[in-house]
Amino acid sequence: MANYKRPDHWSRKAKEEGYAARSVFKLEEIHQRFPVVPRSGGIAVDLGCFPGSWSKWLIERDVRVVGVDLKAPDLSGGTWIVASALEVTAEQLREAAGGPIDLVVSDMAPNTTGNRFTDHCRQIELATRALELARAVLTPKGAFVAKVFDGGDAPAYVRMVQTSFTEFKRLKPEATRDNSVEFFVAGRGLKAQVS
Ligand SMILES: C[S@@+](CC[C@H](N)C(=O)[O-])C[C@H]1O[C@@H](n2cnc3c(N)ncnc32)[C@H](O)[C@@H]1O
Repeated sequence: MANYKRPDHWSRKAKEEGYAARSVFKLEEIHQRFPVVPRSGGIAVDLGCFPGSWSKWLIERDVRVVGVDLKAPDLSGGTWIVASALEVTAEQLREAAGGPIDLVVSDMAPNTTGNRFTDHCRQIELATRALELARAVLTPKGAFVAKVFDGGDAPAYVRMVQTSFTEFKRLKPEATRDNSVEFFVAGRGLKAQVS
C-alpha cells in the first residue's frame, strides 16, 4: 500500500527548493508543455492557493497573484482572499486584481472522504466553479488550468473547458502520484460566450 506520509522525490525536491508543496512541479510541467503564464506584470487568480507553492512560483515569474482559499498561505507578495471559491464573487476577484486577469488556475480539492464517488462529485463542483469564475473574469486571451478528479462527470466537465477555449490540453504531470485519480485541463484563448 502507498505510504502518503513518506516524503517522495517530489516532496523532497519541493522542500529543497523552498516550496510548500510538491504540487509546484505539476504547474511547472503544465506550463512547459502548454504555456499559460502571462508576461511580466500579468495577473493570475489562484483558486485553492494554500499552502502557496503555485502562488510562489507565479510571483517568482513576476505575475501578480490573487489567491483564494479557506486558509491564507504564509507567503508575501500576493493578495489573499480567505473564503470559499463557491462563495467568492467575480466582482471581488476583479477588485482585488485591480487590472485585467490573464490566468485563472485551480488546484482545488475537497478534504477527501475515501469514498471515490463522493470525492469526485465534490471536486467536480469546485472545478466547475473555477471554470465559471474564469469565464467571468478572464481577458479574451486569458488562460485557465484546473485539477480534475476523474469519474463519471469528468468527461462532461472536460468538454465544457474544451469548448470554452480556442486551445485545449489534458495533462497528467509527472509529479502526480501514480495511483492518483487526478488530471489537469488547460485552455488558452477564452471564447466569447454564446447566450
Ligand atoms: C492541493 S491543495 C492546493 C495546493 C496549492 N496549489 C499549492 O501549490 O500550494 C488544495 C486546496 O484547495 C482548497 N480548497 C478546498 N475547497 C475549497 C473551496 N471551497 N474554496 C477554496 N479553496 C478550497 C484547500 O483548502 C486546499 O488548500
